[in-house]
Amino acid sequence: MVTVLFVCLGNICRSPTADGILRHQLKEAGLSQRIEVDSAGTGDWHIGKAPDPRTVAAARQRGYDLSTLRARQVQAEDFHRFDHVLAMDRSNLEHLQAMQPADSRAELRLLLDFHPRREQPDALLSRCAGEVPDPYYGEAEGFEEVLDLVEQACAGLLQHIKQRHGLVA
Ligand code: 4NP
Repeated sequence: MVTVLFVCLGNICRSPTADGILRHQLKEAGLSQRIEVDSAGTGDWHIGKAPDPRTVAAARQRGYDLSTLRARQVQAEDFHRFDHVLAMDRSNLEHLQAMQPADSRAELRLLLDFHPRREQPDALLSRCAGEVPDPYYGEAEGFEEVLDLVEQACAGLLQHIKQRHGLVA
């Protein structure tokens, strides 16, 4: 089993979105039994809570079900459990780098490193400067942008994982 962990700040908006999208893509690719997905937050405010209702509604419009997810905080042991740890922004990445154990086997990266248009960014990707913007205090449009960015980046991540681990569906 290849294991993937998405990490944001609260684990109620961005990382649950990535969790639901990659699960959906794995199902379509017939790889659900080969790749396991989870998400967590660097913060502890929302532990045990369902994702933000705005996140759940925006995802549902595109066919992703986030309703069963519950927030948890990232733990040092996650670096032993997961092969790939994807941070949504640089603040999350720095938090994770600071807690990463010396004997960690996880590959720790920004999720948008895997966006297929990273080398020729469109307007949205340019504006984001490599980070999935936090939609929590913003308008509805921000939740759509998270979906746009994460759908693309998860597709690129899946290609990377398939190559790295020699997976064919
Ligand atoms: P997330 O968004 O990191 O994408 O889950 C946030 C959710 C909650 C808060 C901040 C960001 N908060 O400050 O409570």
